[in-house]
Amino acid sequence: MKRLSHEPTIAVCPGSFDPVTYGHLDIIHRASEVFDKVIVAVLKNASKSPLFSIQERMDLLVEVTKDIPNVEVDGFEDLLVNYIQKKNAHVIVKGLRAVSDFEYELQMASVNRKLSDKIETFFMMSSTQYSYLSSSIVKQISMFGGPISDLVPEAVETALRKKFNG
Ligand code: PNS
Repeated sequence: MKRLSHEPTIAVCPGSFDPVTYGHLDIIHRASEVFDKVIVAVLKNASKSPLFSIQERMDLLVEVTKDIPNVEVDGFEDLLVNYIQKKNAHVIVKGLRAVSDFEYELQMASVNRKLSDKIETFFMMSSTQYSYLSSSIVKQISMFGGPISDLVPEAVETALRKKFNG
């Protein structure tokens, strides 16, 4: 389907965001400069046991993206392609940190394309200073009281400290 040039291009940046890191924020920020609107979509994933509730993850995302006017935060519990169609979006944006991400992301992009050929997946290479960063790494460091201020925004650091120190 050829899209009309005056239609805004809405991109969806999906993920677990448990919690959001500077690596995610880097991709969200760069995507917001390319696309008219970016919806950061948090998966309400019943099969994982997240540290933060869906509401907590969304609240943190709202806080750390508050200065980017064309970014919206939402939650979804659906096939990603169905959610994207409901939102009138056409693009999935994902960050690639290393070759190790490639196989899984290729699989997801291929499945999503099989499910809907109207949706394109765009990959952005993570900035090199965040190429090792993941939510799991941040949680591990924080659990043992290690330094995370270079890895996550202050609001996330505070929320992690509360989780682990009560
Ligand atoms: O941050 P994550 O956990 O790597 O994000 C994975 C996510 C949310 C992008 C992926 O699990 C997803 O899109 N889930 C929705 C269900 C779906 O559409 N699955 C089929 C495509 S693989």
